Amino acid sequence: MKMEKHAKIYVAGHRGLVGSAILRKLQSEGYTNLVYKTSSELDLRDPKQVYAFFEQEKIDYVFLAAAKVGGIVANNEYPADFIRDNLMIQTNVIDAAYKNNVEKLLFLGSTCIYPKLAPQPLKEDYLLTGELEPTNEPYAIAKIAGIKMCQSYNRQYDTKYISAMPTNLYGENDNFDLHTSHVLPALIRKFHEAKENKADFVEVWGTGSPKREFLYSDDLADACLFLMNNYEGNDIVNIGVGDDLPIGELAAKVKDVVGFEGEIRFDTSKPDGTPRKLVDVSRINSLGWKATTSLDEGLQKAYKWFLQNELIKQ
Ligand SMILES: NC(=O)c1ccc[n+]([C@@H]2O[C@H](COP(=O)([O-])OP(=O)(O)OC[C@H]3O[C@@H](n4cnc5c(N)ncnc54)[C@H](OP(=O)(O)O)[C@@H]3O)[C@@H](O)[C@H]2O)c1
Repeated sequence: MKMEKHAKIYVAGHRGLVGSAILRKLQSEGYTNLVYKTSSELDLRDPKQVYAFFEQEKIDYVFLAAAKVGGIVANNEYPADFIRDNLMIQTNVIDAAYKNNVEKLLFLGSTCIYPKLAPQPLKEDYLLTGELEPTNEPYAIAKIAGIKMCQSYNRQYDTKYISAMPTNLYGENDNFDLHTSHVLPALIRKFHEAKENKADFVEVWGTGSPKREFLYSDDLADACLFLMNNYEGNDIVNIGVGDDLPIGELAAKVKDVVGFEGEIRFDTSKPDGTPRKLVDVSRINSLGWKATTSLDEGLQKAYKWFLQNELIKQ
């Protein structure tokens, strides 16, 4: 079941938060035959380009981490782009992998595609048991289609396509653009800018009481390699830390890591969203994998990366 060190491995989305972590992990584990392309070199929405690429490259394994991803604002403003691009990317890659005899493929789902009111912690079995969160429904529908496509190909064609469901992620190559980013990188940028501008306070949306879970991207990459090498089941697998904290506490941690000395003010006129989002990680734990990076350690690393890389772009 294990990938040979010289097997040809394609990482789709290698410049993103997830793909770049998978690429680093593969390189550090001694995998030598890696292929990756930027979206301008290979637009995965274009079937012609995708089928030609797979025919030419003779790929053994695929990590499908290319996707159109964004926070609540972006999902709300561009629902058509989210459903179209994701359906196109995953349909092209999964089918081209099948047509070209790829040994195994790992598809990245997300825990934000579970029903809005599903019980906590979120178990894999809760998928498709209730209504979705309306703001990201088009994205979620596309992701669910990707999971079902993997499972259907396994049933009909005897392929080995597995789906992983990561919780909220953060780390190197995260998106720090306040208009499109998730909560944790947004907090890093906000506190950093407040420190630079010697502001008196930073405003955080909502009451600060909703609880969320955060997984460091290198831990996710480790889990993805673990699944590729050890798991062949048709069932989806959650990837998380199994522990959460209130957004207010997260904000306090980010404030400390950044070294901002002003206060945190909660803008309670803004919505809180779901009170809690925690994933049940008993399936991946029982397979033999656990997250190892603490939130404090991960925040230090993420802020260091932000300082060294993100500020240069401005
Ligand atoms: N971020 C999270 O918290 C989180 C949580 C759970 C699940 N996930 C899942 O993990 C996967 C990756 O997310 P991410 O956060 O790593 O996203 P990301 O940082 O935005 O990276 C996405 C990558 O996809 C590539 N891409 C987008 N459109 C493409 C196209 N048309 N053709 C080729 N490549 C294209 C981009 O390539 P270029 O850079 O070359 O343009 C980019 O590197 C997604 O499936 C997402 O649902 C993410």
